[in-house]
Amino acid sequence: MSRQDILDTTVEGSVERTLFEQIELERLPQHIAIIMDGNGRWAKGRNLPRVEGHRAGIKSVREAVETCARLDVPVLTLYAFSVENWKRPRTEVDVLMKLLKQYLRLELSTLMKNNIRFRVLGRTPELPADVVEELEAGMERTRDNHGLLFNIALNYGGRTEIVDACQSIVNEAVANEKPVVVDEALFASHLYTAGIADPDLLIRTSGELRVSNFLLWQIAYAELWVTETLWPDFRKRELFRAIIDYQKRDRRYGGIAATRSTA
Ligand code: FPP
Repeated sequence: MSRQDILDTTVEGSVERTLFEQIELERLPQHIAIIMDGNGRWAKGRNLPRVEGHRAGIKSVREAVETCARLDVPVLTLYAFSVENWKRPRTEVDVLMKLLKQYLRLELSTLMKNNIRFRVLGRTPELPADVVEELEAGMERTRDNHGLLFNIALNYGGRTEIVDACQSIVNEAVANEKPVVVDEALFASHLYTAGIADPDLLIRTSGELRVSNFLLWQIAYAELWVTETLWPDFRKRELFRAIIDYQKRDRRYGGIAATRSTA
């Protein structure tokens, strides 16, 4: 997958092509994180059961992954299932797990073909055994790929991740029988995202203005972009709009405003 594919698959003068041409390809976000929201509302609007929204959302997952791979964005993280999502009806949880398994089975060859590495962020051991098996197989098969890193946050909670990092630091100190001095770098190295750059851009679909316990540590300086579009309707044009908007932001990291060239 390459940027040429975007040119080959979009018509000159179309919305997608025009947006693509506005992206500064040398200033892409290095990590895009997405809170995929609005599947239930999408289904409700069509008098369909909620799970049909999740099913339709798979197409948007595919498009987000493929577009990031084509653009050469190094990391994409999708929030698929939170630690709080177990409170949903059993049937909905079961369908979500089934969809995940199906997605992995069907997409593995595409991930391999496109050099995409797949990883899971979250408390995976608490997931059903058959799902863990599928996830591990996917991670194992794609581990040597060096294109896009595609993370799925699954049974994920930002606070849970921070608690797990603390526990891991304590365990290590006890095992080494040595007191430990904690600083930000050490702490980050115990998160699920150890070694991965923090998100530059956090996208949320369906209009809610909250971060919902997602990557709480890592989004400290992320630029937020919210669209009213519901996740099953999210297509590359939305992703392009988010990136274009991100590139207009003046990122200060607590410092003073930099003067951006308007050339
Ligand atoms: C939020 O919509 C969406 C989810 C909790 C699940 C997202 C999962 C998928 C798109 C399918 C599987 C994913 C992968 C990565 C293969 P909601 O149900 O909260 O919507 P609502 O707010 O409108 O009710």
